[in-house]
Amino acid sequence: MSGIAPFDTALRPMLEAGRAPLIGGGGRLTIGLSADQQRRLIDAAHSMAPVAGLTHNFYRYPARFSPQVARAAIETLSEPGDIVADSFVGGGTSLVEALASGRHAIGSDISTLAVFVARVKTTLLDADRLQIVERWAERTATAINMRDEAPPFEDWAEAGYLRHLDHRDRWRIRKALAQAVGWVPSGDQALEDLARCIVLRTAQWALDGRRTIPSLAEFKANLVSSAKAATAGLTSLAAAAGDDPANILILNRSAVGLETDPCLSGCLAERKPRLILTSPPYPGVHVLYHRWQVDGRKETRAPFWIANTLDGAGGSYYTMGDRKRPDLPVYFETLAAAQKSLAAISDPDTTIVQIVAFSKPDSQLKRYNEAAAAAGLEELRLDLLRDEGDGRLWREVPNRKWYNGTRPATPASNEVVLFYRLAR
Ligand SMILES: C[S@@+](CC[C@H](N)C(=O)[O-])C[C@H]1O[C@@H](n2cnc3c(N)ncnc32)[C@H](O)[C@@H]1O
Repeated sequence: MSGIAPFDTALRPMLEAGRAPLIGGGGRLTIGLSADQQRRLIDAAHSMAPVAGLTHNFYRYPARFSPQVARAAIETLSEPGDIVADSFVGGGTSLVEALASGRHAIGSDISTLAVFVARVKTTLLDADRLQIVERWAERTATAINMRDEAPPFEDWAEAGYLRHLDHRDRWRIRKALAQAVGWVPSGDQALEDLARCIVLRTAQWALDGRRTIPSLAEFKANLVSSAKAATAGLTSLAAAAGDDPANILILNRSAVGLETDPCLSGCLAERKPRLILTSPPYPGVHVLYHRWQVDGRKETRAPFWIANTLDGAGGSYYTMGDRKRPDLPVYFETLAAAQKSLAAISDPDTTIVQIVAFSKPDSQLKRYNEAAAAAGLEELRLDLLRDEGDGRLWREVPNRKWYNGTRPATPASNEVVLFYRLAR
């Protein structure tokens, strides 16, 4: 790339030894990781492996992280026992990887659905309780019957959470869902939530973006296989987390003002996160975080009904503003405030990793970095990438198609992994 000094051969031995200086060639601040550690991050970012393992597939949270990238960032930029924070936690990929690698973690999200999913994915249950849930799913699959009554869920229906599910192609799935949700175990919150999450996963598979609705027999088989996958996932997560698992704290709140949250002030006064690994909504990119699409573009809020949580205030609530204004003022104002909060919960040893996609990368990445700089954050680069493109770690996201595949992929199917720390 023009204007960038060629790779300094004197730097290589220091990089190999993990003693890279913090100012690299070309005047850019570099991250200070060994060449092996940088390669680990780059390889993880370029991996096209599908999302798998641990509890990652409990729910297909839109625009979720690659677990490989999350794991590589956690292992290269923090130590066991450190705190990892994610203030736009979504489906909790970062928390699952933190727990599996012995790091404490703090997550927060404005969406109750995100908090529900992230909590279920990181709540370890012993083998007896897992078996109870698996048996519940088998009994439920056997008991679902179109000739029997289903609980009416009148309040949810009146509030619009079941809209678009009564269509002649979907009423069977709706009734099966109502029976399954009506029969979730009660009295043990963690078991109830896991059972709800299993129904959620099956319902997403059955309804979201589907052209052909599955048969009742397929629905029942998926409910049972989802339960088995969930218990296997939690079992492998518990094994990875070890006998003394790390602590996970998840808050339902905005990233803005996180530093003032009474639940965090005690723990953050003692110790700051070593790593903030997060992914705010993407500027100008419409991602349906909170709903599913049935019948083409018709949206259903059913995921909130199944999770027993309340929806927020419409699409722009979850995407930080209205896309109709081309200059995205609400997005960039909220981002600037969120970056300040990330700076406020950091100390000089904290690395902040942000993974973002853009509808207009050229102009939006510049504004994105201006918001970070105004919050007192400086961008760091990987020395190994200094001769490539703009010197940043870009990645192509496999199978990412917005609008659940009903539109062609947009430039947002490429995302960038950005590194920052407090300006010195
Ligand atoms: C790109 S997603 C995060 C996905 C996540 N990395 C994962 O692996 O699942 C962005 C998230 O930001 C949340 N969000 C939007 N505005 C927020 C705000 N002001 N504060 C906290 N979370 C917010 C959305 O609800 C959404 O879950």
